Amino acid sequence: MSLDYTFSIIKPDAFNAGKAGKIIAHLEAQGFTLKAARVMQLTKKQAEEFYAVHRGRPFYGELVEFMSSAPCMPFVLKKGSAVSALRDAIGATDPAEAAAGTVRKLFAESKGRNAIHASDSDENAVRESRFFFAEADVI
Ligand code: RTP
Ligand code: MG
Repeated sequence: MSLDYTFSIIKPDAFNAGKAGKIIAHLEAQGFTLKAARVMQLTKKQAEEFYAVHRGRPFYGELVEFMSSAPCMPFVLKKGSAVSALRDAIGATDPAEAAAGTVRKLFAESKGRNAIHASDSDENAVRESRFFFAEADVI
């Protein structure tokens, strides 16, 4: 893992709606390449641990319930300055505030059901990738 890698999840709303392929294609068209991927349903415990940084926030319970409610697709992407490039590409947390052409503007329903997760720092990209993938799983 280097600064060129970041971690993302197609969240249950988008995965259930069959939007995963379109979102990946949208990101590949912007120069991201797929380096690892899997399809799985998070346990409640995994969702609690993954979003532990938000424990105590008013939306934490709802976030954990949503993220463990149905299958999702964790994946690793590569691009120069991957973390900031992907945060730009996904747009604001609330799709109503997301810029035109961003993943959340194009594919998300609401602030709670916002289609995609993206790591917010290089440190978290490494930590979150390791949460779902072994080193050897990332090509
Ligand atoms: P993410 O971590 O999923 O990539 O999203 P983010 O950085 O844009 O937003 P963050 O502040 O880290 O919040 C994590 C997720 O919690 C849900 N949320 N709901 N109802 C609310 O006020 C609220 N605030 C946050 C969202 O699903 C958000 O993506
Ligand atoms: Mg976040």
